Amino acid sequence: MGMNLQWYPGHMTKAKRAMEDSIKLVDVIVEIRDARLPYSSANPDLAGMGKGKKRILVLNKTDLADPRETEKWMAHFRAQEIIPLAMDARKRGDCSDILRQLNELAAEKKAKDLKRGIKNRPARLMIAGIPNVGKSTLINSLAGRASTKTGDKPGVTRGLQWIRLNASLELLDTPGILWPRFEDESVGLKLALMGAIREEVLPAEELALAGMKMLQERYPQALTDKYGIAGDVSPASLTELAEKQGLLQKGAEPDTARAAARFLDDLKKGRLGRITLESPDSGEE
Ligand code: G4P
Repeated sequence: MGMNLQWYPGHMTKAKRAMEDSIKLVDVIVEIRDARLPYSSANPDLAGMGKGKKRILVLNKTDLADPRETEKWMAHFRAQEIIPLAMDARKRGDCSDILRQLNELAAEKKAKDLKRGIKNRPARLMIAGIPNVGKSTLINSLAGRASTKTGDKPGVTRGLQWIRLNASLELLDTPGILWPRFEDESVGLKLALMGAIREEVLPAEELALAGMKMLQERYPQALTDKYGIAGDVSPASLTELAEKQGLLQKGAEPDTARAAARFLDDLKKGRLGRITLESPDSGEE
């Protein structure tokens, strides 16, 4: 299985440097991960880069994830003294939880600054995560409530804008983009299945079959419930799916390419149910 991700060392070095520069400006890092892949959507270097900063971990897209698995992951992160939040970044209502948490951190910072005799300024935060986890969506949801841009400031890279969320919180309007643990092939596969990376890790039909197998292992009923396909997944499963879904080519031949595309789209959009592809107890993270 060959991976073909567009993350070359040069890009990575540049992205990492940009991230390190931004991190210097903030007090709090809000890391977003995909709740369907809490391990695979993580960036392994962020903990090191964000040393000494407060960290909030958002499990986003929980509307698509298995609620029982999300609970397990939340407990897992709490035990590591990471502050986890589960949400749907598109819902402004879900932002009140994160704002409450951020206000608490801002109050802690204020108390600390006062003790040290430092003039208090608002706590600054940035949103970071791998592509497509919902960074821009969360920024928009948070900013939509109270969008006062504070403008460029001396000493801050031109173009960086702070959005004032309230008297004690400022949000960097540019998200920190991180790369996934792409050296691990199963991570790339799962990210592609969830639509987190657009790069083709595998030809569509192979990707679909790998996805069907993975789904069957974790949710044995899902394929039967949705498509009426029973039995173990094999290359013939795509033919069966094409027939069941009426995806036929000229001459009534089953169209396995369209069947693969149908399955991948259904999986990504949650039409096969709310699924999570990894658990904290399976040795992941
Ligand atoms: P990014 O900045 O981290 O790259 O991600 P962005 O906010 O652009 O979000 C990527 C896609 O995910 C968007 O869909 C967005 O609407 C969707 N999204 C964000 N948060 C949630 C969530 O909590 N639940 C669900 N179901 N979707 C969420 P899009 O623009 O339609 O792109 P795509 O889905 O076609 O990739």
